[in-house]
Amino acid sequence: MSDQIRRILVTSALPYANGPIHIGHLVEYIQTDIWVRFQKLRGHECYYLCADDAHGTPIMLRAEQDGVTPEQLIERIWREHHADFTDFLIEFDNYYSTHSPECRHYAELIYQRLNEAGHISRRVITQAFDPEKQMFLPDRFIKGECPRCGTPDQYGDSCENCGATYSPTDLKNPRSVLSGATPITKESLHFFFKLVDFETMLKDWIASGPIQPQMINKLNEWFTAGLQEWDISRDAPYWGFEIPDAPGKYFYVWLDAPIGYMASFQNFCDRAGLRFDDFWGPNSDAEVHHFIGKDIAYFHILFWPAELTGAGFRKPTAVHCHGFLTVDGQKMSKSRGTFIKARTYLNHLRPEYLRYYFATKLSDGVDDLDLNFEDFLQRVNSDLVGKLVNIASRSAGFITRRFGGRLADHLAEPALHAEFVAAADSIAQAYERREFGRAMREIMALADRANQYIDEKKPWTLAKQPGAEAEVQAVCSLGLNLFRVLTLYLKPVLPGLAAQVEQFLQIPPLRWSDVDHPLLGHAIAEFKPLMQRVEMAQIAAIIEESKEGAPSGEETPAPSGPLIDDPIGPVITIEDFAKVDLRVARIIKAEAVAGADKLLRLELDLGGETRQVFAGIKSAYPPEALQGRLTVLVANLAPRKMRFGVSEGMVLAAGGGDGIYLLGPDTGAEPGMRVK
Ligand code: MSP
Ligand code: ZN
Repeated sequence: MSDQIRRILVTSALPYANGPIHIGHLVEYIQTDIWVRFQKLRGHECYYLCADDAHGTPIMLRAEQDGVTPEQLIERIWREHHADFTDFLIEFDNYYSTHSPECRHYAELIYQRLNEAGHISRRVITQAFDPEKQMFLPDRFIKGECPRCGTPDQYGDSCENCGATYSPTDLKNPRSVLSGATPITKESLHFFFKLVDFETMLKDWIASGPIQPQMINKLNEWFTAGLQEWDISRDAPYWGFEIPDAPGKYFYVWLDAPIGYMASFQNFCDRAGLRFDDFWGPNSDAEVHHFIGKDIAYFHILFWPAELTGAGFRKPTAVHCHGFLTVDGQKMSKSRGTFIKARTYLNHLRPEYLRYYFATKLSDGVDDLDLNFEDFLQRVNSDLVGKLVNIASRSAGFITRRFGGRLADHLAEPALHAEFVAAADSIAQAYERREFGRAMREIMALADRANQYIDEKKPWTLAKQPGAEAEVQAVCSLGLNLFRVLTLYLKPVLPGLAAQVEQFLQIPPLRWSDVDHPLLGHAIAEFKPLMQRVEMAQIAAIIEESKEGAPSGEETPAPSGPLIDDPIGPVITIEDFAKVDLRVARIIKAEAVAGADKLLRLELDLGGETRQVFAGIKSAYPPEALQGRLTVLVANLAPRKMRFGVSEGMVLAAGGGDGIYLLGPDTGAEPGMRVK
């Protein structure tokens, strides 16, 4: 790859200022942030801009409902969005708002230039109007009976029962969602952008490669259907910018939304001393990249380049579309507790787990991606804790205790280190092309290599052999140097972890060009644990807190005490029972606990994951009799801190007055299997 410094402006879509950021949104902001951090790490001049999309009817109505002004609403939401992004380690160079003087300036400028060049037309249209509320009604604000099947309470554009699509005037017994009044039809003058003027330009532009192949197919469908004039005006009352010289007419929210990218950048330029035209001017040699979801492609690959061209600005270098997030294979749902707000997640888990998980799932395509919580837990625990952090925790202790924190002054196996360094180009290429899943796989294959090296050399055995001192230091130093390279490769995804590692290794912030500068004869700080495992109980708590009507932030205390000896317990529903995650587990180790006369400490294998559980079964089983046995574990019980350590679940046993009988599955069951 070339060493030339690129100037790159990057944006994510501007979230609407009428609701919280949720994990679906985060796919996009995490994807973009990883790409931007990668570019910066490589030494390029890269800026990441975003803003709240603060105009439009839903925001106006939401403010009214909350009894505040739209300004107050968007101010509060801006602060919430900004805090959510910051806590997810999404690092914008500027996070602004479309309700800003810069946005008004560019909206008016672009409109005026389009108007002067003859790309705006005006004509009278008829629309549904709420006579009580005295406003025109968007399709979604009208409900009535489906003209085809008669189902009541259907929206003005389509029927949820029979799938018919129609216009709101076709509905039987229509009424306004806002006032309940029967809408009338009313005429008014609207302004239109003549998209068709740009058809040839758009076709040439697309041919130059700024969009993904899947989107080209979509685009060709749109060309075939014919490019329509785009209605860019709305009548008062509307929350937005009034159109110059057209009292009572406002720019439709989607006109000023992408202009918000420019507004945010202009506002940044004024602070940072950059020149706006170097990036947006017609002769700019900088790159402009937009990251968006596929639902808003029409606006970004048709209207936006056409507007820019018509108004004398440059076109985007690329528009990168991504797919939609599903949870456990389904659309996010409030009733299932899978409509998860960024803040709810943050209340329970570290952001980097989700950043890493999304990275493993992201590619340059537009396919939807699924968040499966079991897969999430396995991936994060096995890759980040089990593989990555493990390299450091196995090597660091020896260096600190035996060598005063000093690394060896040579590489034990230069070829192995060189192999890690040699992967830099391929990993960089994967990041550059947004093939993050591929990058993560390559990095984890290297992590396996590093662990394999330490397993082979066994520093813990060497450490007991007289005369092997130097080798222990060399092996562990190489382990830490390999760990350093892996941390660098993961830095775009795990910036917080990278900062902890830089502190531990006592080095300045890692840059991509540092990859082949191993640490030799260098002093490191004492190792502190870098990352905890994800627990099922934390995930269960997120889902619980996300359920519609769940008291936010509060937890219902679990009923305590065993049910043994009780008559049949209280009646529960199948949904209640389904919350208990029961798993087959193999007891890989059982031992007495010093100072506890009833407890055994069990190490359980859940099929790849290991848990520690303290069980009160010592009176019934000598530890050695349990080794290798299968049993059943309550896998999503909140972990419990005990005097002897943390108990991560509970094994099931039958019991009465005269004995304890551990439950186990029939032969053939495998560790990790779900018990239902
Ligand atoms: N305000 C417009 C964008 C204007 S850009 C000039 C908008 N806002 S949004 O809040 O609805 O969505 C913001 C971004 O998040 C969009 O790119 C959208 O595709 C993305 N996502 C919203 N829900 C999503 C998922 N469930 N999954 C993945 N991305 C999702 O659209
Ligand atoms: Zn119908």
